[in-house]
Formats: sequence, C-alpha cells, structure tokens
Amino acid sequence: MKKLMLLYALAIGCLAPTAQAAEFSAAAPTVLITGSNRGIGLEFVRQYAAAGWNVIATCRSPAKASELKALAEANPQIAVERLDLLDHAGIDALAARYAEQPIDIIVNNAGLMRGPDRGQMIGTIDYDEFDRFYRTNAAGPVKVAEAFYKNIKKGDRKVISALTTGRGKHGIPVPGFSLYKTSKAALDALQVEMAIRWKRQGVKVITLMPGRVPTHDEAPGTVQNAVAVEDSVAGMIAILDNATMEQSGQSIRWNGEPVQYE
Ligand SMILES: NC(=O)c1ccc[n+]([C@@H]2O[C@H](COP(=O)([O-])OP(=O)(O)OC[C@H]3O[C@@H](n4cnc5c(N)ncnc54)[C@H](OP(=O)(O)O)[C@@H]3O)[C@@H](O)[C@H]2O)c1
Repeated sequence: MKKLMLLYALAIGCLAPTAQAAEFSAAAPTVLITGSNRGIGLEFVRQYAAAGWNVIATCRSPAKASELKALAEANPQIAVERLDLLDHAGIDALAARYAEQPIDIIVNNAGLMRGPDRGQMIGTIDYDEFDRFYRTNAAGPVKVAEAFYKNIKKGDRKVISALTTGRGKHGIPVPGFSLYKTSKAALDALQVEMAIRWKRQGVKVITLMPGRVPTHDEAPGTVQNAVAVEDSVAGMIAILDNATMEQSGQSIRWNGEPVQYE
C-alpha cells in the first residue's frame, strides 16, 4: 500500500525525486539549461540566477552536482532537475511536471565532447560511439525542444538555443574529432529545421558558438585564442536577450558575429 501511495505521489508530481525546493518568481523570466553541473552550463546558471531569472538547471546526476547544488541552496529561484539527453521518457516526465510553467529560453548546452580518439577517425570509426554521439548531440537537443515546446509557447521570449562547434575545416583542426564535429553539424541542420517549422508560432531558434572555452582543466596558455567562460556566456546571453525573428535559424558566435560557412 505504502509503495502504491509513493508511486501515486511521484506520478502526480508531489514528490520530485531530484528537485530542490525552488520558489520561482511569477514576475521573473524563466530559462531551462541542460548540462548545468559544470563548464559552460554552470556559468549560464550563475549568470541567469544573478540576473534574477528563474532557472531550471538540469543535469544527468544531480546528486553529484555539488557546485550546482550549492548555488541552488543559496538561491530559491534555481531548481535542480535530472535530465539525461539519452532518456526520452525521463525528458517527457520532467516536461509533464513543468506543464504549467512558461519558459522563455531553452539553452541546449549539454553535449558529448571528447577526443581525439581512433573511434572518431575516418578509417577506424567506432559505430557504437557513432550512435552515442548522434543520439546525444543531435537527437538530444531536438527532443528537449519538442518536449518543452508548449512551455516555450507560453513564455514571452520564445527562444530555443543550442551550442555548437565549427564543422569540417572550420572545426577543431586535428583528426580524431569527426563524430563530435559531425554530430554537431547535424544539430545545426536540425536547428534550421526547427526554425522553419516553428516560425509562424514566433519561436526563435538560435545556434550559438561559444568560442574555445577551456572547461577541461587545460593547462594555462595551452588553448589558442581561448575565451574565458564568463565572457563567452555573457556574450551568448546578450545574443539571446536581443534575438530577433530574422536571426532564427542562424548560427552566431559568442561575440555576436554571424557564422558564414559558404
Ligand atoms: N568548451 C568549448 O570550447 C566548446 C566549443 C564549442 C562548443 N562547445 C559546446 O558547448 C557545450 C558546453 O561545453 P563545455 O565545454 O561546458 O562541455 P563539458 O565541460 O564537456 O560539459 C558537457 C556537459 O554536457 C553534459 N552531458 C553530456 N552527455 C549528456 C547527456 N547524455 N545528458 C545530459 N547531459 C549530458 C555533461 O554532463 P556530465 O557532467 O554528467 O558528463 C556536462 O554537464 C557543449 O555542447 C559543447 O559541445 C564547447
């Protein structure tokens, strides 16, 4: 009986297994961020929270997200939630719990970024990893956008964004990153599809390039043209703040320059 009651409570959202006790402000705009536990995603949480936004800060393992949880303990407008891009049922369940919540901006930040390795080199491609890269980096952000589309329509700003990287010769200039680069190129194309599909609904779909941001404990001075995470995120937030319908479907660098491949 107890087990049944627990299951019922979970189903109706009384007990959210990973949610902090957030108190959102009805007057503040709301952002949903994926991959919020570290790197660029954590900095997005810091800056949006400092600006007074309600933040749905999602990550794969909230229990291990110590820096994120510390931010949420100090600020009731941050809700920490579990979201794994490979778990579509979990994404739908989270969207169901937030069904009534307008969301102004989605930041599809989470991604599988790794390399160089032989499994990503043409000639020795690892096809299990191929699936994992594409399911994470290409399908994952689209699934998040689909699941929270109704929330975006309820929001004032109606912006769906995703973080990408350069492709082909414009991307990471050493071999061993092919699955990373091409799964992000697939994401770029899917972003354009979403922009076309949801144009009439006034939804702006913006693809962001954060620059080369050292987030993996790189030794100081080893990343050429490095951009500090604080600057990269501040620049991307400014782009999202000022996004227009004309920019929907475009890719834009963190400093506001449009990306032109052709
Ligand atoms: N840093 C750069 O120079 C750079 C340049 C171009 C583009 N980008 C893009 O910018 C984004 C953020 O970069 P970053 O440097 O902050 O990356 P990062 O430090 O590698 O962090 C990646 C984030 O994505 C999460 N993630 C990975 N797989 C996931 C999954 N299946 N479901 C949910 N979350 C998942 C990670 O969670 P866990 O902690 O659980 O692994 C982590 O929070 C990425 O999309 C990256 O491709 C970064």
